[in-house]
Amino acid sequence: MIKGNSAAARDSRHMLHGYCDLSTQREAGPSVITGGNGIYVHDENGTPFLEGAAGMWCTAFGFGEEALIDAATEQLHKLPYYHTVAYKSVNPAIDLAEKLAAIVPIENARIYFGLSGSDANDFLVKFVRYYNNAIGRPEKKKFISRINGYHGSGLGSGSLTGVASCQTGFDLPLPGFFHVSDPNWFHNAEPGEAPEDFATRMATELEDMILREGPDTVAGFMAEPITGAGGVIIPPPTYYQKIQAVLDRYDVLFFADEVITGFGRTGKMFGCETMDIQPDTMTLAKGMTSAYQPLSALVISDEIYRGMEQGCDGIGFFGHGTTYAGHPVACAVGLKVLELFEERDILGHIARVSRRFEKRITAFRDHPLVGEVRHKGLIGAIELVADKEAKRFFDPMGAIAKRVKDRAEENHKLIVRNVPCGDTCAFSPPLIITESEIDDMFDRFALALDEVTDEIRKEGLVAAG
Ligand SMILES: Cc1ncc(COP(=O)(O)O)c(C=O)c1O
Repeated sequence: MIKGNSAAARDSRHMLHGYCDLSTQREAGPSVITGGNGIYVHDENGTPFLEGAAGMWCTAFGFGEEALIDAATEQLHKLPYYHTVAYKSVNPAIDLAEKLAAIVPIENARIYFGLSGSDANDFLVKFVRYYNNAIGRPEKKKFISRINGYHGSGLGSGSLTGVASCQTGFDLPLPGFFHVSDPNWFHNAEPGEAPEDFATRMATELEDMILREGPDTVAGFMAEPITGAGGVIIPPPTYYQKIQAVLDRYDVLFFADEVITGFGRTGKMFGCETMDIQPDTMTLAKGMTSAYQPLSALVISDEIYRGMEQGCDGIGFFGHGTTYAGHPVACAVGLKVLELFEERDILGHIARVSRRFEKRITAFRDHPLVGEVRHKGLIGAIELVADKEAKRFFDPMGAIAKRVKDRAEENHKLIVRNVPCGDTCAFSPPLIITESEIDDMFDRFALALDEVTDEIRKEGLVAAG
């Protein structure tokens, strides 16, 4: 336990944190971030860090966007809170639902607002159960998602998640949740298997699972268009086309988790557009408010909505509601984000700067430790391997990427994310990043990577260069 009365010491006495080793966190304490501006945050000593991960893949407009701060402040003055259950509503939620419905690739969509990606995915599980009960197919309740997919930390969303370390000890997944393989060609292709053949095998695996479980029992398939936290996995060409054909064959819905990929991250407004997916539902959060306010949105198709309404007719009551659904301050910020996308042509900016992002990240392919580079728009990952030619991974996996991430943060004041897929460092900077800031980010990363390369050569973990 750290002694004294610093913020870190007080934190270690009373806070319970997520995604950490609890005793390490308690003994070492956190680094406390006290401010930010543009793509930088600073800690309590005033040391600035370049935030190459936009916090948790979310602060699209960086850390000091006055227009968003003003939108929240103005709404706080006007109406700081009112609810949207039991026949009440608020203007910012109405406006935002209308604007979202106009831009999502789901016709005549209905929106339910929540506070986090986790709650939106949990609600999705409930709503789909309600829908299938309502339309007279109460058996159709099973959910299929993917290994290494990340969908949140609730009971339903945590069951949809396919990362073992997020489930161990929590008795997850719950019954009725199943996972198919990660469409990660680099890791999971058989020797000599072409990407499109791999995509066919992945679709066949899904079909086999649906047939094994019984098509009448499978409600839907959830996927991030591009897997984020699980390693920035971009499925190979034809994958989604083949997956959608299987889903259509057995009347299984496609639930797109756009919590990371929504709002420009992959170059288009939504990952479904980038990857050519026709979803039945979408889960949105993070970039929707640039994370300046907690807000998520569960977007469902008109067909699902009408089924739910039909259920309500029978039961007489839709027994679901949350105090903060459609919170006016959060929705006002969400509206401002959409306005800024238009006003500042953020998609045009991403199209321009992502060319530099691509140039810089793909240059790492020549590095002796880099096994694969993956990228789309302003999301990318660099995966490290012990032997490039033999495609030999480090053992245990993950420690070297963590070392590079730690070195980047300690020595070069760059925050990147090491993700649970091989030895992978992920980048998802604020969308407002400029070309010279992209250069700065990758220059800092290169220094950290070279330092770790030298260290592990000396330790004999890789061959000397
Ligand atoms: C794709 C995806 N879905 C859902 C979630 C859960 O969102 P939250 O952490 O806001 O609950 C996350 C969080 O990182 C995510 O990346």
